[in-house]
Amino acid sequence: MDYTKEYSQPTQSMKSSLIRELVASTRNIPGLISFAGGFPSPSTFPKDILSDLYSRVIIEEGMEVLQYGASEGDRQLKEELIKWEGYRGLTPEEMLITVGATNGIYYYAKTFINPGDVILCEAPSFLGSLVTFEAIGAEVHGIDMNGEGIDLEKLQSKITELRAAGKNIKFLYTIPDFQNPSGISMTLQRRKDLISLCEASQLPIMEDNPYSRLRFLNKPIATLYAIARKDFNNSNLVTEIVSFSKILGPGMRLAFVKGPADVISKMESWQQKINVTPDCVTQRVATRFLEKGFMTPHIKTICEFYKPFLNKMLSELDKNMPSCVTWTKPEGGIFVWLWLPENMSADELFVKAKDHKVTFIPGSKFYPTGQEKVNCLRLNFTFSSMQQIEEGIGRLGELIRSQID
Ligand SMILES: Cc1ncc(COP(=O)(O)O)c(C=O)c1O
Repeated sequence: MDYTKEYSQPTQSMKSSLIRELVASTRNIPGLISFAGGFPSPSTFPKDILSDLYSRVIIEEGMEVLQYGASEGDRQLKEELIKWEGYRGLTPEEMLITVGATNGIYYYAKTFINPGDVILCEAPSFLGSLVTFEAIGAEVHGIDMNGEGIDLEKLQSKITELRAAGKNIKFLYTIPDFQNPSGISMTLQRRKDLISLCEASQLPIMEDNPYSRLRFLNKPIATLYAIARKDFNNSNLVTEIVSFSKILGPGMRLAFVKGPADVISKMESWQQKINVTPDCVTQRVATRFLEKGFMTPHIKTICEFYKPFLNKMLSELDKNMPSCVTWTKPEGGIFVWLWLPENMSADELFVKAKDHKVTFIPGSKFYPTGQEKVNCLRLNFTFSSMQQIEEGIGRLGELIRSQID
């Protein structure tokens, strides 16, 4: 049986995961140092607490949590999340628990996108979301960023241009904190100005937030969701998706969404059809983790653990990179972004880097189709040892220098 002609249109045009392919192409190279993946360090997983909680939850609450659960998510977890985040007046109906942020992003996209609709995002942005939007039929347009976040003048002119061309722009997708892939965090002023612009333009915002709690330096910046709700008295503009992947462990597949109650209920309908419910045992374990007060000290421990790795990567870049290379200096998250000289392609560098036994993700992979920039690359600092960072950045610096000479 040949199925190829029978696949649906979206399946036929679906791209494979470029990043997975790239990572796979370097897997069997002995001695290779990889800054490619987006993995948290397994040393940060709270294994002992979780093993105790999983066992207790099954022993004490197994009759309930081994049963099918509610599609909206565990009510007890929602109550703990509302307390943890400190929102007054936020109701459980404005919240949905999902199987990782990936599912939350998918449900939001399914709720809004018709083929031909436009989604705006930062350029570069998280590839996983871009391919989801494109697979559902959206045209994705990237807006440049500077060190303070998305460029609002360019955003405004893109909105005007697309609307004048009769396009239906459904939402702006943004990652304001320690953005994947750039590591850039949007400043508070930029966040406020973005909300004003989107409010005036009637453009909903999807705020993807897997990294804001991984801040190693300085004070947190309020999320777009919090600013819109508290400062603009608007709980209708922003939908925020918070993942536990980089806090508890991506294998738990747990995230939550806050947004307008009606949007949440439509997303819940998608969840009903696709997953029935997130894993009920895991949800209850997360509930007890929060309730017993483990979350705050755990996040502090993770941040203390990661900070020296970020510092090491930044200082090795300082030591090894020629002056024509620049990079972001994040205060948290898991990525640093490098700009190479204009005429240097990180796609080509990637191939040569394999011989130098070091790897990364070329920046072109993080742009919407047709809008790629090639003189940039992403480095992860949370999945390598100090020694690997020293050695790997040394190898990369040497390679880049050799390309300039
Ligand atoms: C910006 C961004 N959004 C979403 C995700 C997916 O998160 P989850 O593991 O919760 O599905 C990631 C994971 O790397 C990410 O970087």
